[in-house]
Amino acid sequence: MAKNKLRRFREMKEWSNVFEPTLSLENNEEFELKGNWNKNYFQNENPIVLELGCGKGEYAIGLAKHFSNKNFIGMDIKGARIWVGAKDAVENGIENVAFLRSKIDFITTYFAPAEVDEIWLTFSDPQPLKPRKRLTSKSFIDRYRQVLKPGGIIHLKTDSDLLFESTLEEIEEHGYNCLEKTWNLYGEIPDDLDARTKDILHIKTHYENLFTAKGFDIKYCQFKID
Ligand SMILES: C[S@@+](CC[C@H](N)C(=O)[O-])C[C@H]1O[C@@H](n2cnc3c(N)ncnc32)[C@H](O)[C@@H]1O
Repeated sequence: MAKNKLRRFREMKEWSNVFEPTLSLENNEEFELKGNWNKNYFQNENPIVLELGCGKGEYAIGLAKHFSNKNFIGMDIKGARIWVGAKDAVENGIENVAFLRSKIDFITTYFAPAEVDEIWLTFSDPQPLKPRKRLTSKSFIDRYRQVLKPGGIIHLKTDSDLLFESTLEEIEEHGYNCLEKTWNLYGEIPDDLDARTKDILHIKTHYENLFTAKGFDIKYCQFKID
């Protein structure tokens, strides 16, 4: 493994804002923060917002700076990417954000029923050949339902026509409640969105910058699944 990656992994072990659980599922070992993120980590009762597939965590960090009255958790399997966001939070004293290194597939292992208020999916892989691996496929949405509070919102921001179209199809097919949708976010931010939401839609991730530079329109939708 590259030296740089190893250094990042070592550093992250020292930081209290990164969790890299290694649970023995055979022994039914429970994740200690499941159901206790607020009580034992954030030490407040604020709403919990997840960024799934957070990469370098720009959205989680950007949101945490905007909303000091909410708690944010970025989740991704790639440690070297999480390192970037976690380092930013450590160096800048951003205490309402944490990072969880794991597959999103196991989200119900890490969060208790109704522990989560909101979910952001930022530039998720469109998975053209493996639709079931898309983070808005039914099996993932069913997992999110288990951890979201009733009325919890899912946001999707993407460059991908394929992912956006398939998500809108899932919304239609399963009767989710679509609250906002636009095929060209920066061309037509909906007028009736409140100023704070408009502001946070302008937070740009690493992948958003890459795709914007290539001329892709950025799509956005938000929906409820109950
Ligand atoms: C295209 S990148 C986007 C990263 C970041 N959100 C951004 O916009 O820059 C997709 C990220 O999702 C993560 N990812 C995809 N599927 C995942 C899964 N099932 N579990 C955990 N992470 C996943 C990848 O590791 C990768 O960092």
